[in-house]
Amino acid sequence: MLSIAVILVLSYLIGSVPSSVWLGKLVHGVDVRDYGSGNAGATNAFRVLGWKVGSSALLLDMGKGALAAGVFSQLRLGAVPSFGAWELDTVIMLLAGLAAIVGHIFPLYLGFDGGKGVATTAGVLLAVTPLTMLIVMAIFVAVLLPSGYVSLASMTSAVAFPIAVAVQIFVFGTGLDLSVLVVGVLLALGIVIAHRSNIRRLMNGEENQFSSFRPAQG
Ligand code: G3P
Repeated sequence: MLSIAVILVLSYLIGSVPSSVWLGKLVHGVDVRDYGSGNAGATNAFRVLGWKVGSSALLLDMGKGALAAGVFSQLRLGAVPSFGAWELDTVIMLLAGLAAIVGHIFPLYLGFDGGKGVATTAGVLLAVTPLTMLIVMAIFVAVLLPSGYVSLASMTSAVAFPIAVAVQIFVFGTGLDLSVLVVGVLLALGIVIAHRSNIRRLMNGEENQFSSFRPAQG
């Protein structure tokens, strides 16, 4: 059993693992940051290195978020009580998840210059509230397929998440904790800010589309 501080450090360290960069170097001898959007993320790994490395990076990036929120958070010392409206068990899952997302965006192993955190965020939120994430992932696909823009789908999904949580809490009265809504709003803001270069490219009609992926490479 571990203290919360140790859980947060472990979560940060696992989040720091730069799947796209390490897989790219290992499998193709290529640094994914030198090509495509230059982002150290799964989307750019698909784009630059093909579907095999891309899908592996996606699974690993989601997996490290899910591992931190779903597993590391459970290794804490003793039981954690509820505190008023806040379910501290959920809060600790979210904190561990946030530490992994911070690790992905500011990775120890890449001089604190990492990716945008979308896949790791998806893994965290899948562990915390899988039903909400099914809706959000459907929205992701519904935006990606007609538009061809992963960045647009990522930002739309990030904004859709807290809305879906708010509907569940305030309209349907589900037991979803308020902390999920608060963290969802913060994550949506963070993900939109992380995509500011994509927003500029979208506005200038210069954004990379899904069709620019080259799966045959992988
Ligand atoms: O998850 C990142 C994605 O939304 C955008 O990636 O490489 O097109 O900047 P990229």
